[in-house]
Amino acid sequence: MSGEPLRENLVLIGFMGCGKSTVGRILHQILGWPLVDMDGLIEQRAGMGIPAIFAAEGEAGFRRRESELLAELETDGMAKRIIATGGGVVINPENRARLRRLGYVIWLRAPAKTVLARTSRSHDRPLLHTEKPLERIQTMLAERMPLYEETAHLEIETSDLSADEIATGILESARYDFGGRM
Ligand code: S3P
Repeated sequence: MSGEPLRENLVLIGFMGCGKSTVGRILHQILGWPLVDMDGLIEQRAGMGIPAIFAAEGEAGFRRRESELLAELETDGMAKRIIATGGGVVINPENRARLRRLGYVIWLRAPAKTVLARTSRSHDRPLLHTEKPLERIQTMLAERMPLYEETAHLEIETSDLSADEIATGILESARYDFGGRM
């Protein structure tokens, strides 16, 4: 570890359906820090929803927008923000390094079946539009687990916890890691 103090942002990573946006909103309410929902901001800037971005520009176009936004969040130097990322942000190695430089990174995890149950009614996740979503989730989870693990400062298994409990756990750990500066 370098002696650099940890930048004071909370960064939520993890697979689709693991509660990043919900937990992000609760942290926002408790701390009063602005919530940056990366997917929402990408959609706002593109003037279209994520499925439309995938349809028009492919996954590559979406990833480019995602990496550009993350680079901006790092270089603007701002702190005291909650950043909720999209599940695939960790695929790009440069993004992984950026996420850790941005602040305290929390990985919210859940087993494949829980992810399926939580995402089955949503139509806004093009990567899960497939005949066999459970298999798809299992494959993607297996590929991404090591990436989430390498990026996170803290890992939380979310299956048996409420969103409030998760937020409380995050705050306790983050306070410690920020050296009581929160
Ligand atoms: C993606 C996750 C989505 C969104 C896009 C791609 C992924 O975000 O960024 O559909 O590759 O896992 P959520 O994790 O918020 O669903």
